[in-house]
Amino acid sequence: MHEQACLTSFERERESMENMSLVLVITIALFFGHIGDSEGGDLRKDFYKSACPLAEEIVKDITWKHVASNSALPSKFLRMHFHDCFVRGCDGSVLLDSTANNKAEKAAVPNQSLSGFDVIDKIKEKLEETCPGIVSCADILALVARDSVSFQFKKSMWEVLTGRRDGRISRQSEALSNIPSPFFNFASLKQSFANKGLSLHDLVVLSGGHTIGVGHCNFFSNRLYNFSGKGDQDPSLNPTYASQLKAQCKTLSDNTTTVAMDPGSPLSFDSHYYMALNQNQGLFQSDAALLTNKESSKIVSKLLDQDGFFTEFGQSMKRMGAVQVLTGSNGEIRKKCNVIN
Ligand code: HEM
Repeated sequence: MHEQACLTSFERERESMENMSLVLVITIALFFGHIGDSEGGDLRKDFYKSACPLAEEIVKDITWKHVASNSALPSKFLRMHFHDCFVRGCDGSVLLDSTANNKAEKAAVPNQSLSGFDVIDKIKEKLEETCPGIVSCADILALVARDSVSFQFKKSMWEVLTGRRDGRISRQSEALSNIPSPFFNFASLKQSFANKGLSLHDLVVLSGGHTIGVGHCNFFSNRLYNFSGKGDQDPSLNPTYASQLKAQCKTLSDNTTTVAMDPGSPLSFDSHYYMALNQNQGLFQSDAALLTNKESSKIVSKLLDQDGFFTEFGQSMKRMGAVQVLTGSNGEIRKKCNVIN
């Protein structure tokens, strides 16, 4: 009897020690897991691995198919993801349509030149067929931005963590107040990024997104025709480049013509944007502003190195993609990306 009691108390002690080690192991795992995750917060790699194993492949396949026949799409999706993340975080709010009593983000001027929403809808449709109610629109957009840019390289250019959930609110006014303006100076740009927890380094790196795509004349024609209200040209703009731009944007009020933002290679994702910038060929005042600060222009020079740019861009995209995300039981998984459930 006594022997039995001793054995039991010994076993209990062993059990409690085992429990303690288990707690220790879990604590260590959580601690290191957290460090590994430091750029993505609650987001995870392969979030859909068990609930929808084909999700990322489906997104990539449909995206690549569309980019193959429309080379302008990568610029549209990259900008769409940026505009999503800067307004209420990366919650797919940019994808929602206006309703009878709500003007959505889509209605705001900076979002009026976005396109490609139909591709997002097609991907969502396929995912709802494959695994209904699982994959968020916010994650689809983050993946599509990466996959569309990656098409040129036929491999993934950066890692996208997943697990975002969809927001239920989208307001035109919030898009206007949160998306940085092309007329911003350095201090305003830095502040705009800081408001989202992003650094000066992120600002310079992510501005490299302007290596692809186009801009409408009215976002920079003041630099050509009326910089200080006296019919003058922006002295910080390369005069040869200014003449080329004037040949395309013929009047101050032209708001329909578009020009390539990276004159040498507008369809190619590369570090040429920084080369153009260093030659005073940044299209917007917000591009040129990156040369008006010592620290920032140093970063511009570093990013001339293409491999360095690609690495930095991936890391900054990861940080941008984690801005104010909804995870866990917050938000919802929309059934259709353009309307809330
Ligand atoms: C730093 C502040 C930024 C400002 C002020 C800004 C402003 C603009 C403006 C005015 C346009 C032209 C839109 C049009 O005329 O239709 C544009 C285009 C674009 N932006 Fe930005 N942007 C900024 C940052 C970013 C970031 C962080 C990204 C992505 C990482 C990005 C990606 C793009 C792309 C890809 C386009 C081309 C879109 C197209 O071809 O339709 N921009 N941006």
